[in-house]
Amino acid sequence: MGFITPRTSSPYTITLLLIPPALLALTYLIPLPDFFAPCAAPLLLSSSSSTPSPPPDPEFRLLIGILTLPNRYARRHLLRHVYSLQQPTSPSSVARVDVRFVFCNVTDEVDATLVALEAARYGDVVVLGCDESMNTGKTYTFFASLPDMLDGDGGDGSTTSRRAPYDYVMKTDDDTYFRLDRLVTSLRGQPTEDFYYGAGLPFADPKFPPFMLGMGYILSWDLVEWIATSDIPRKNAVGPEDMLTGKWLNTGNKARNRYNTVPYMYDYKGPTSGDFLVDTIAVHQLKENSRWAHTLKHFNVTKGLEKPSKFYHFS
Ligand SMILES: *[C@@H]1O[C@H](CO)[C@@H](O)[C@H](O)[C@H]1NC(C)=O
Ligand SMILES: *[C@@H]1O[C@H](CO)[C@@H](O)[C@H](O)[C@H]1NC(C)=O
Repeated sequence: MGFITPRTSSPYTITLLLIPPALLALTYLIPLPDFFAPCAAPLLLSSSSSTPSPPPDPEFRLLIGILTLPNRYARRHLLRHVYSLQQPTSPSSVARVDVRFVFCNVTDEVDATLVALEAARYGDVVVLGCDESMNTGKTYTFFASLPDMLDGDGGDGSTTSRRAPYDYVMKTDDDTYFRLDRLVTSLRGQPTEDFYYGAGLPFADPKFPPFMLGMGYILSWDLVEWIATSDIPRKNAVGPEDMLTGKWLNTGNKARNRYNTVPYMYDYKGPTSGDFLVDTIAVHQLKENSRWAHTLKHFNVTKGLEKPSKFYHFS
């Protein structure tokens, strides 16, 4: 049973549903208020036409799973803005990018109620069958759960489509900022099979790094399916997740196609403009709001969004 149902009327793919079925009915009853519609900078848009037409089949579909904790409400609030405002205003012919927040079982009663509100309102919450308080391999559970969760979902909401629900799946954290247009550009035309993308370590092997750093790495869908079925990951699910993912793939002789994003994905260095690269794909270690603000300001993220208003000003 597929839990992802696109609202084809809305380009706002972050609102796509990936929630427990019990919440599904509720979600449909809640219309998205207009004020929440993103006014985003164009992201590799197809030419717009005045007559409504079905959304184009994109060249590729990417699922971004942000592994976070239930009680990080403020960070999710920020990340929702950051990613929804980067979505194109009409469906892109190049890429569909869906962003989800990924938890293990929400055991705290307060969190369970409040996160249920978010799941209903935004439809971007994924709860896995793992225990957050133990080091039980959340990343493993994330990848290994997806084929069943998305079974039968051809990515277009059709249950008959045999196309994989996504071409690529990313695991990332709540302290990483991805520039979606750069990400999409760097992924475009890459292999869609046996493919592993990210900031590789150790630096000694730039072409075929043994593993990609946990700030954000991408696997092609066939590798997600392999993780779900192979004994190799299942028996080595606990440990430093980024190194482990590389180890599974290396042991299984997988991921023969690797793309190293070094130096364009990096840890936050400092607030001066020299601390950022022009072609940055991602900045990591954004633990404090001040770092987010520096980074967003540097990349002019808020610039195009400021409409003249008599109600507010920010300088
Ligand atoms: C998580 O929740 C599911 C569904 O309620 C349950 O089947 C599973 O045992 C729980 N797992 C853990 C590790 O708590
Ligand atoms: C942000 O905008 C300023 C002024 O238009 C420009 O000089 C600068 O290069 C832009 N920064 C980035 C990272 O694009």
